[in-house]
Amino acid sequence: MDYKEHIAIVENWPKEGIQFKDITPLMDNGPAFKSAVDDIVDYAKDKEIDIVVGPEARGFIVGCPVSYALEIGFAPVRKEGKLPRETIKVDYGLEYGSDILTIHKDAIKPGQRVMIVDDLLATGGTIEATINLVEQLGGVVAGCAFLIELTYLDGRSKLDGYDVLTLMQY
Ligand code: PRP
Repeated sequence: MDYKEHIAIVENWPKEGIQFKDITPLMDNGPAFKSAVDDIVDYAKDKEIDIVVGPEARGFIVGCPVSYALEIGFAPVRKEGKLPRETIKVDYGLEYGSDILTIHKDAIKPGQRVMIVDDLLATGGTIEATINLVEQLGGVVAGCAFLIELTYLDGRSKLDGYDVLTLMQY
């Protein structure tokens, strides 16, 4: 399926010079959204995944239906101060400054095979930080799946040695 026809390109949002890729029309379209989720589920099938991990907020939207279809759990990665129990954290770089991502300390058991799912691979900062959290807990990152890859930002360079699926490239 050509998923790009369901992506809205928004010029100069959230700031001047950024061309935002809006996935909400894809989410709006039942067959297209199901097909995109199914593609990620197919990718995961031979990887013996134990748990799906997704960073907030759009990683929840894509990751949760994948975990449901695979009949395995989902662990949220959230900005600092959002998870209620004991967490581990990682600092990660943003275009300007930095932020902190956290995961519950008991979200992943050592040796568990993890697939990380998010809507977008841009600079790769978020996936790099998420991998760091999973590996701090002893998880094995068996795959990373995204709806969209912005190839001109070269997030892939942060994913050397990892198995990666992206459904659309810009
Ligand atoms: C967006 C997107 C990815 C990340 C990709 O999330 O959903 O998680 O940026 O960018 P990167 O590869 O350069 O790290 P954002 O931080 O905007 O959070 P949100 O989903 O809560 O809006």
